[in-house]
Parts: sequence; C-alpha cells; structure tokens
Amino acid sequence: MDDFDLDLVDELCSSFCTPYSSQNIKTADGSSTRSNRKRTSTIDPPENSIIKKVCLTDVTNKSMIDEYDEINMLDESALQMLCEEWEPRSQFPTLLDRVADLLEKYRNIRALHNWQKKCLDLPARRKNQNLIYTLPTSGGKTLVAEIMMLNCLFHRNLDAIFILPFVAVVQEKVRSLQPFADELGFHLEEYASSKGRYPPLKRRIKRSLYVCTIEKANSLINSLIEKNRMSELGIVVVDELHMIGEGQRGATLECLLTKVRMHKPQPQIVGMSATLANIGDLLKFLDAQFYEERFRPVELEEYVKINDFVYKIDRNSNQLIEHRQLDFKYTKQQLLNDPDRIVGLVSEVIPTDSCLVFCASKLNCENVARLIVSFMPEKLLEDNREKRAILLESLVEVNEGDLCDTLKTTIPFGVAYHHSGLTGDERQLIEEAFLDGILTCLTCTSTLSTGVNLPAKRVILRSPYVANQFLTFAQYKQMSGRAGRTGQSQIGECYVIAHERDMKPLQDMLFTIAENDTGCDSHLSLNNNYAIKQLLLSAISLKMCTTYESLMNLLQKTLLALQADRLNVNLENLLDESLQYLIDTNIILIKEEEQQQQSNESDNEKVKRLIYETTKLGKATVEGSVELSIATSLHNHLTLSLINMNLENPLHLLYITMPFDLPNITIGFRQLVDRMQEMKNEEKLVLKLLEIDETFLHKKAVGLPAQQKVSKETMLRFYVAMMLYDLFKNKSFYDVAKFWDQSRGTIQSLYSQVASFATSILYFSKIYDEFWPYHQLLPIFVQRLTFCTSLEILPLMEIPGIKRGRALQLVRAGYRTLRSLAKAQPDELMKVVLNLPLRTAQILVKHSKRLLCEQAEDLRDQAAELVENII
Ligand SMILES: Nc1ncnc2c1ncn2[C@@H]1O[C@H](COP(=O)(O)OP(=O)(O)OP(=O)(O)O)[C@@H](O)[C@H]1O
Ligand SMILES: [Mg+2]
Repeated sequence: MDDFDLDLVDELCSSFCTPYSSQNIKTADGSSTRSNRKRTSTIDPPENSIIKKVCLTDVTNKSMIDEYDEINMLDESALQMLCEEWEPRSQFPTLLDRVADLLEKYRNIRALHNWQKKCLDLPARRKNQNLIYTLPTSGGKTLVAEIMMLNCLFHRNLDAIFILPFVAVVQEKVRSLQPFADELGFHLEEYASSKGRYPPLKRRIKRSLYVCTIEKANSLINSLIEKNRMSELGIVVVDELHMIGEGQRGATLECLLTKVRMHKPQPQIVGMSATLANIGDLLKFLDAQFYEERFRPVELEEYVKINDFVYKIDRNSNQLIEHRQLDFKYTKQQLLNDPDRIVGLVSEVIPTDSCLVFCASKLNCENVARLIVSFMPEKLLEDNREKRAILLESLVEVNEGDLCDTLKTTIPFGVAYHHSGLTGDERQLIEEAFLDGILTCLTCTSTLSTGVNLPAKRVILRSPYVANQFLTFAQYKQMSGRAGRTGQSQIGECYVIAHERDMKPLQDMLFTIAENDTGCDSHLSLNNNYAIKQLLLSAISLKMCTTYESLMNLLQKTLLALQADRLNVNLENLLDESLQYLIDTNIILIKEEEQQQQSNESDNEKVKRLIYETTKLGKATVEGSVELSIATSLHNHLTLSLINMNLENPLHLLYITMPFDLPNITIGFRQLVDRMQEMKNEEKLVLKLLEIDETFLHKKAVGLPAQQKVSKETMLRFYVAMMLYDLFKNKSFYDVAKFWDQSRGTIQSLYSQVASFATSILYFSKIYDEFWPYHQLLPIFVQRLTFCTSLEILPLMEIPGIKRGRALQLVRAGYRTLRSLAKAQPDELMKVVLNLPLRTAQILVKHSKRLLCEQAEDLRDQAAELVENII
C-alpha cells in the first residue's frame, strides 16, 4: 500500500461529516455524504503504558512522584491523555473522530469545502513537497494548513511550525488550537513576545506544534539547527506569505525560509495567502507546487461612493458603472456633521446585519464611532440590551474598574471601535461580541484586515487612504475580503468612500496596478543589506556555511538572487560588503584552516583554506536575536550597568532591559515630576545612577529652559521605565495610560516590547560568564514583564483568561499557587472572588489542572533529556 494512503487527510476527506451520526449531510458543494465513522469508546490507559513506566522509572525524585500522584488525583482526563500509549496508526479512527468532533464543536465545521479536499489531495501534499496556495479572503485556507499540521504530528510523527504575522494573531491561534491540543494530545507552544524556549524542550511522547511570529520562528529555527534537531521538524506553514515582500519582517521571513531550504532532508514548506502577486518567483524560491482557486464562500460586490452616488466596480469591463443614489435622509445639520455620508451607508445594514468601517487613523476610528451613534434612534438601545451591558461590565473588569467614554457611549448602540490603542483583552472582548452579533458595527484601522477573522456583511473604507498613503491593491484586497459572513449572508459588499479627486488613483489601483502588482519583492538588501548581514551571521554562527563559496551558495538560494537583475543588485558585491562590515564590527573573524584533500597521488594531502567564524559578540548577537547595529552598544550597556546595579526595587532593571529602539514618545516632564514626588529615596537612587538631575526635570516640567546632561535616549528609556514601574505596582492599565497620557494599547505594546528585549538580553548574556547576574535575574524578571505585575500574583497569571484583579483576590484568599487552585472547589472560589460566575470558576480550576500537568510533563521531559545517552 502506498505510504500516504493511510493518513489523516485521506480519512478526513473521505469520511468527515456529521460526527457520530449516520444521517446524510450536505457538503459545501451540495452533494451528500454519509458518515462512516463510528463512535469510539474512550481508551483506558494501558497498565503497561510507556508513559506510566517513564513516569515511575525516569523520575526517581520522590517529590516528583508525589506530584505525579497529585496529578493523578486531580485530573483523570489529563492523566489519561498523558498515559495513552501513543500509536499513531493504530489510533487512526479515534484520531479522525476526535478531529472531526472538535471542528464541529469549536468551529461549526461539518464538512470540507470542495477546494479544500482538492488541495489536500494534491500530489505535493501527499508527497510532503512544498506547496503554495492562494484563495480569496475567507476561503478557509487555515483549515487546510491545520489538517496538514495535524497529519504531520500524528501520522508522520514530526513537529510542526505555524508562522503568523502578528503577536495578537499568534495568541488568538493558540487559544483556538488549545482544545485540539488538549483533546488530541500534542504540545501547543506559543512563540510570541517573551514566550518561547530556545531550543525547545526535547519531547519524548507527544509532538509539538509551535505557533510563532516571524521573528520568533527565526530564532526557533536557529536553535534547532544549532542543536542538530531540524530532523524533528516535518512542516513549516507560513500564513500570509505575501508578508515576505513587506519590509524588515519580510526579510526575516526570507532568511528563515532560506535556512529551512538549506537543510537536508528539508521540512515541507507550505505558504498561503489571499494576495500573491509575483507568484513565479516565490514558487522558484521555495521549489513549490502551486494551487489556486477563486473560491469564495460568499460572493463579493464592490462599490465606490462619491457624494451621494454609488458606482459598481465591474471586474469584467474594468470600469466603474453608475449604480444608484443613496437615499438616506439627511438634515442640513447632519450633512454638516457627516459630509461623506458614512452613516447613510452604515444604516443600510445595521442593526439587521453587520458592518466594518475601516478608517485611516486611530483617532478617526473613535470619531466615526461617535458620529454613527449620534445618528442612531433611541429604539436601538433595546437590541441586545442585557448582552451589551454584560460586555460593558466585562470591559470594565479587564480595565480594573474603568472604561473609556467613547466605548461607554457607543456600545449600548452596538457600535465600537477596534484599533491598537485598545489592550489585547479589550480587543478580544470586542471581537467576540461582534462575532456573536452583540455589536453590529466596528470602526477599525487596517490592522484588523490581516489575520483577525472578523467578517461582516458590509465593509466600508472610510477613505482610500491608510494613514496618509493611498491604498495599495493588496491592502484593498485584504480589507474588502472581510466582506461576507459564511453561512449568514449570500453576498458581501465593499464600499470605498472617495472624492472626485481620488478617482484617477483609485481606478489605477483597482484596475491597472492590480495586474502588475509586484508585492513580493525581496527586502533582503533593504537598509544597507541589513538582513543579508543577519543571514550570513546566523549561517556562520550555526556552522551552516563557513567558507566564502558556501556563503555565496546560500545567497544564491534566496529570493533576492532570483530577482537580482530586476532589483539591480550584484550578489558578489553584497556578499563582500556585508562580510567586511561583520569583520569591521568585530562580529565575525577570518581564520586559516587546514583541510584534508583527497587526491590521486596522496590520500592525505592538506590544503589551507579561509573560513569565517563568529566572535563571542557575534555568537551572543545570534543567540539573543539582537540587531547587529546595537550589539556593541548592548554589550557596553550591560557591562556598565553591572558596575552600579540597584536591585532594591525593579526600576533599574526595568531601565536596563528597555529596548534601544523605543517608539518616539513625547516625554511628559510634568507627569514625571508628579510621580517622583511619590517616590521613596531608594527609588530616586536610580536617577542618580543615570545622572538625571532632578532640577532639570523640574525646570522642564514648568517649561523653563534647562541644560540636559543625559542623552535623549537615556531620558526616554527612563521615562518608559517609570510608566511600566506603575504596572509593577499593580496600578491598573487604565490608570497608568491615563496618568501618562498614552493609549492603553501603547502601554501594553511597550511592555510587550520590553519583555521581548529582556528575553534577548537573557540569551545574549548567557555567552559571557561575567554577565552571570543577568543569567540569574532575568528569567524571573522576564516572567514579571510578560504579565507586568507584582511577584505575588505571578504564578496565577499563566492561567489563560485570568486578570490581575481576580488574581489579586485569589492570592489574598490564600490561593497563591497553581496547585492550590487546581485542588480548589469552584464554589469555594466563588465565595472569595467578587462576581465570579460558576462557569468561570470551573474553567479556572480546569486550566490550573492542565497547566500543572503540562509543567509536570515538562519536568519529565527535562529529566529525560538530562540523562539521555547516559543510562
Ligand atoms: N469547510 C468549512 N466549512 C465551514 N466553514 C469553514 C470551512 N473551512 C473554513 N471555514 C470557516 O471559514 C472562515 C474563514 O476561514 P479562514 O480564516 O481560514 O479564511 P482564510 O482563507 O484564511 O482567509 P484570510 O485570507 O482572510 O485569512 C473561518 O471562520 C473558518 O472557520
Ligand atoms: Mg487566513
């Protein structure tokens, strides 16, 4: 039998319909299928299960055995998951049933779309060859990739990497895959912001699915190459592959894919996107097969609105055709407030259907949300009144008691804004409410168009600009792609609000540029060959390539090499210049090495050759994924900080771990001075260490001219450290944002940047013995930064969904550890935490048990790794 015949994909494609039923169901293409899956009983853990043996023989430490018993007592199902004798092939029918059930339960997916079956049936997929597939937005691309990854984990018994474009999207994906990991039994590991372990733990029993941002995936691949563990990896999936053509991030993606391509045997690479322009180059670069479909579960109708006239975008004739006149009745005053007639377009769909309004800026989002509700009739307040009130309460809760005035005003009407100024928790609540129909209209920035799955009946582009740049075709496609809710509306509509002056560029964008869009150009040589230098450095450090020829060979495998003529770059010059830069900056050095040469005359002839090696600084730069341009300054900074380190409170450590490339925030000297008045003397010592003069701050606060001793960068880094220090003292996000006059989202993204940079410093410092204090201090500090909170509630913050307010109440009631929560009765928790619903209490206990089991399993894996090849 063909080796591929038995895999999960085949099973899913052929027999996946309504779980446990034998009734006929309609597939997406209208045909009927009959379930041939049987209900399978839960498998009892076999007495002689591998894992049970491992648990009891590997781990001789008594306390760990106790912990094992504790887990046994705590959570039968988790234990069973751990104790299943894992035999992928023999478990196949069970696995299939479970996957199908999970897809139905959590995603309401009952059958694969026809195109999904076709795609999964491609020879490339069957032979694990590289594959790129493109489909319009909302076509269901993710599911195909997820099935391929599950197949890799369970059928091929190899790990998988799933690369997504943003931290928030990674977090969302981890949430949505968690039930699959719990039920099916694989490790789901998040690599975003400060999360992720390098190299990852070597797992003995279950396979791992790593869900990563591009940058973290790059570090993960580096660590696997370094430890010679690439063969554990079966598949690398890249969502939104068109990102390869977008700036520094795209260049990093190109670097990591080039490294994966160099490895033999090469893990399968799968890329997907809705918008891929120069697909030919990408196919060559990845040596991939191509699959394309125009399938869209709902039809898309596109319009442009100018004044009160609507034109239809006709894709056949590539023209705008007069369609209709808007008939929303405006008073004179209303027209003054809403000259672009946004509300007219919105009112045609809400409250019956849903609407997204893309705005050019964050401020504009909030203004448009307020504008919309100012037109709304009072009777709309009756819709979903209770659910909206609960939403407001939840928002107040995640903000620890507060909420911004705009949301307070707009949510009762079912309208909200969504942009990066909101915290992740706020965004999540708003997204869920929109998907559930509790909110019917969101005003948002273009960030919502990538990755986040929030479809709406109507999408309105408030203007053809993003920030102050004219819309690109790729952006237009991403935004318009949100139009149409599968299963809820037959048609999705996209309206672009434009002025007459925009007509020419708009038509160019819609009809001309669309065809010649070269969105996926390599960005490796951007910023003075920055990414090339990083690629060369990591290849040298990982000993993938050490000679000039092999480095040239590596460069020739890049996308840039394929586009070199068109982009007018000379690879040889690039290589020479980049190597010279790395030598000049003391990142690499050249060494002469003797090499054995096979020849006819003598078998042992030795020749000399030049090889490249990393210096200690170079090695640290790779280990910490630190930007080359700051490697030397970071080393100096860490050395100097050691001389006068103040550990009395976390403020100085916060300053030390501040990124070098903070966003350009205006320093509020008045707030700084106010805050300093509350500071104790020992806290003020940090000012002295940094040579920041208090008088200088006072003068600046009242607008007097003052001479600054410290650099602008030091001042900014201290300023941001002060903001985050407030969070460490458990001040609420809302209060911190308000006091420092920043958006809550900015504060959150700042601490996420600091957490990420502190992780980099941790790995960077490990290369130097003299940096031992950092090795000791940073692991726990990174954890504090990840949740930006006090030490006392840190152990509970790992629990998904737990907020600082609840964690504080639990700690005060004596639930200080995961273990204590895992043992708790939900009704006991309800007594000590205000307004804690039973369901949430049960989930808290369940998550605590799961996390505890995971921690125990990690320890067992670590123990096994420690004694590997010894016993
Ligand atoms: N076979 C299916 N049956 C029903 N719903 C499906 C099916 N496959 C996917 N979906 C649903 O369709 C929606 C869109 O899917 P998905 O997010 O994968 O689209 P996409 O192609 O990745 O779009 P984008 O380019 O916007 O990211 C999701 O809600 C998903 O759960
Ligand atoms: Mg997608």
